[in-house]
Amino acid sequence: MINVLFVCLGNICRSPLAQAVFAKQVAQRGLTDKISADSCGTGAYHIGSKPDDRSIIIAQRHDVPIHHFARQLIPADFAAFHYIVGMDEKNMQNIQSMSGNSTAKILKMRYFDSMGKNKDVPDPYYGDIEGFEEVYQIVDRSCEQLLSFIIAEEQLDVGK
Ligand code: 4NP
Repeated sequence: MINVLFVCLGNICRSPLAQAVFAKQVAQRGLTDKISADSCGTGAYHIGSKPDDRSIIIAQRHDVPIHHFARQLIPADFAAFHYIVGMDEKNMQNIQSMSGNSTAKILKMRYFDSMGKNKDVPDPYYGDIEGFEEVYQIVDRSCEQLLSFIIAEEQLDVGK
């Protein structure tokens, strides 16, 4: 199993949406038995919480199943996950600072976004629902490229 972890700050807005979008794309390509997705936050504020209502509304709008309870990034994640994907530069710094001698591939979500390469996925928490729609659009197109990257990197047989 190739394990992929999406990381933001609170694990209630951006990373659970990215996890859900990615999992749907993995299923659409018939790779559910080869690639798993999870998410977490660098902060502890929302541990145990469901995704923000606005992330749930946006996921439903796009027919993306979303089920998650927030958790914090822990050192064991660096052994358990093959790919760790940060949403913004601050998350990336926090991830890197915990990574030790991990061999996990640590990547920024928008490394894969041709419409804004290496930009941050903006934090939508203090904004309105349209910010969540923007996050959806960004993670949807970035996750497609991420998935193609992982398929190539891991030489997975998609077969269709
Ligand atoms: P997220 O958004 O990192 O995308 O889950 C946030 C959620 C909560 C807070 C900040 C960002 N907060 O400050 O509580």
